[in-house]
Amino acid sequence: MRILSGIQPSGALHLGNYFGMMRPAIDLQEKGEAFYFIADYHSMTSLFDAEQRRRNSLDVALDFLACGLDPQKSVFFRQSDVPEVTELAWILSTLTPMSLLEKCHSFKDKSAKGLPVNHGLFAYPVLMAADILIYDSNIVPVGQDQKQHVEVTRDIAIKFNEAYGETFVIPEPQIRGETAKVPGLDGEKMSKSYGNTLEIFGDEKPLRKKVMGIKMDSRTPEEPKPDADQNLAIQLLKLVAPAATGADFEQRLRAGGFGYGDLKKGLFEAYWTYFAGARKKRAELAANLDYVNTVLADGAARARALARVVLQRARQASGLE
Ligand code: ADP
Ligand code: TRP
Repeated sequence: MRILSGIQPSGALHLGNYFGMMRPAIDLQEKGEAFYFIADYHSMTSLFDAEQRRRNSLDVALDFLACGLDPQKSVFFRQSDVPEVTELAWILSTLTPMSLLEKCHSFKDKSAKGLPVNHGLFAYPVLMAADILIYDSNIVPVGQDQKQHVEVTRDIAIKFNEAYGETFVIPEPQIRGETAKVPGLDGEKMSKSYGNTLEIFGDEKPLRKKVMGIKMDSRTPEEPKPDADQNLAIQLLKLVAPAATGADFEQRLRAGGFGYGDLKKGLFEAYWTYFAGARKKRAELAANLDYVNTVLADGAARARALARVVLQRARQASGLE
């Protein structure tokens, strides 16, 4: 079984990225042949600062490795180190109906907000389809918001296979129910683009401030809170604390006599402890960038070897050769 996923280097990674995609991806590396990459081509649709992209790409590499991506088990690489994927994207684009892309949220949401949209953003799902199909991927672990893109990939692969004969494996998205949509500090979906994130890594003081700043309702500490399970801090706490601790805090809130300040303190401690090991690992990796660069170069060579074989198959099938 081949597993594949990517993440854009468009800003600091957060708990939504971690629980929605990175944790499931890291767990899956035990279950098959995993390919994980830094989607730097995709980041070009919304980030226009070259130095920032370089820095973000390195940060994603450090973050992912620190969180447990094991280069002995997974192929870890930069998307643009396999330029074959852009040729496949072109080939696939000729079989992609405009109407399929017009339906995609990634594009619709941005244009609805009046943000400047470019052709790359419109064609983004086609490049993503090429990413997935060029490695004969079976399973694609992602958060809920990427499900539509994997469905588009399936549609395009089926169209290609119908037009030119069986060429591509049809992939399946894999979405973990309980962490499909991690809420942000304002209760909306946590996202870099909404400024409501809690980062995986960063300095203690500002992160503590962020957690303590989470807005709660105006009920007094004494009041029982029968809706404790809906509380944002409880929801986040359940992700980062042992199950018994999460249940205990929820019960205390439900019973009354437990203030939001103490709840948020508990959340911060659990979150800070949860990532303590990864923080230490990240500092070690940051002091050994030669190692990180070697991992990415090795991953690129392995990914590219496979991509060439699948691209060749598609070129042959479509009469380019
Ligand atoms: P962002 O919305 O912050 O820009 P990305 O689009 O780069 O995040 O997402 C990278 C991966 O993390 C994707 O698989 C996406 O589904 C997942 N992800 C992002 N935010 C969340 C969230 N709040 N809950 C669950 N998964 C998420
Ligand atoms: N579009 C994904 C995101 O924003 C990143 C991505 C690019 C990806 N190519 C992919 C994810 C292929 C899974 C498979 O999060």
